[in-house]
Amino acid sequence: MTHSTGPFIAAIDQGTTSSRCIVFDRDGRIVAVDQKEHEQIFPKPGWVEHNATEIWTNVQEVVAGAIAKAEITAADVKAVGITNQRETTVLWDKNTGEPVHNALVWQDTRTDALCKELGRNVGQDRFRRETGLPLASYFAGPKARWLLDNVEGLRERAAAGDILFGTMDSWVIWNLTGGAQGGVHVTDVTNASRTMLMNLHSLEWDAKIAESMEVPLDILPEIKSSAEVYGHVKDGVLAGVPVASALGDQQAALFGQTCFAEGEAKSTYGTGTFMLMNTGDKVINSYSGLLTTVGYKIGDQQPVYALEGSIAVTGSLVQWMRDQMGMIKTAAEIETLASSVEDNGGAYFVPAFSGLFAPYWRSDARGVIAGLTRYVTKAHIARAVLEATAWQTREITDAMTKDSGVDLAALKVDGGMTSNNLLMQTLSDFVDAPVVRPMVAETTCLGAAYAAGLAVGFWPDTDALRANWRRAAEWTPRMPAEQRDREYKNWLKAVERSMGWID
Ligand code: G3P
Repeated sequence: MTHSTGPFIAAIDQGTTSSRCIVFDRDGRIVAVDQKEHEQIFPKPGWVEHNATEIWTNVQEVVAGAIAKAEITAADVKAVGITNQRETTVLWDKNTGEPVHNALVWQDTRTDALCKELGRNVGQDRFRRETGLPLASYFAGPKARWLLDNVEGLRERAAAGDILFGTMDSWVIWNLTGGAQGGVHVTDVTNASRTMLMNLHSLEWDAKIAESMEVPLDILPEIKSSAEVYGHVKDGVLAGVPVASALGDQQAALFGQTCFAEGEAKSTYGTGTFMLMNTGDKVINSYSGLLTTVGYKIGDQQPVYALEGSIAVTGSLVQWMRDQMGMIKTAAEIETLASSVEDNGGAYFVPAFSGLFAPYWRSDARGVIAGLTRYVTKAHIARAVLEATAWQTREITDAMTKDSGVDLAALKVDGGMTSNNLLMQTLSDFVDAPVVRPMVAETTCLGAAYAAGLAVGFWPDTDALRANWRRAAEWTPRMPAEQRDREYKNWLKAVERSMGWID
């Protein structure tokens, strides 16, 4: 524990692979952290599930763990903020608090056929115009529809008013504030903007879209801003503390990186990678395969919008190398292995495990390793794994430049993978711009803490937050342009080969 004196703000990050709780002081410094992984359930190729009850148990444990490590009590904590893996969908019985099925994770592709059908019947443009999103299995609305269609008797239970829908923010907030004994059923605009059910302009549920998706409006939570007091923690070590923010994890990272001005952008390297650029009060339609989404909304202030480039698989490819292939023992080992060779030996790895997200949106794609010869060793594959993250980022920065007309001046990065120096140098080489990492790389939790702190007056305004941002490390491009262009062409050839795998 650092020797900060209180009061403090706690943030809960319910992520794809783990849940964590971090306690921050007024300077935005980390006072204590606790974290716990949960099971990844793969019932079939392309299907990914989480047990929402296990997640809620873990959330309670990490909150208790972080508060104990900080050696503080609820009286020292002015507010708790929530951030979460987005799009992951859970439906539960409001009388018992029991989920009706495992949560369907954002990476799950089972709604692929349903999305194609909606595209044929309703039209791609209709969804994109109103919600800012392309029809893809990534988003929450089609997942809710799948559950309603496939869990026996669920539509009837929903019609009887017994079922609630939520992304993980809603699930955690409902449980924190009392669950079946009076929990509040809310979501925030950033999470709602990932359901494909919210109108991006009115920031309300779009009744017509919900009807075409066959998701009843009654099961949906109330949409709130990202920073306001939704309710108070009912039980446990934080009993009585206001629950005062909710942001999808990528929007929270945008906030934590203090990208408050139009044109500022960040890229977060977690299970997947997500680059968001603040576009101010403008809803910019992308013509280059990016998403239009809500960046954040503080209380009753105007919403701030963002353009997003989403990459499904980056850190999870390293996990796959470790857990499924057994090629490394720890995630950190990939850097040592990849550094033992000069280059990729001609190999390119396109990790289209959940199809390809931005800028392609091809759910018919699957992973490929291209360019193999007998020369290739596992060290070359390790290098190709890291390069896959960097090339996918390059594709996103190209799309951002096309849509915004602004060349990338520098890339602000955060997330677990940014501790990999080889990856950070490769990234700078491939995007041909400086890559900058802040002191607090836990920007997702920090963003949720900042929003909660603003809501309860712990910090006066966003200027106070900007003052906390400090640069920790910077990488600048070293690769000759000619080499970069040649390698990029090879990468794009490999991407071509990943497409059209699923009929
Ligand atoms: O949209 C999915 C994203 O929110 C997941 O983030 O950090 O859990 O990979 P992460």
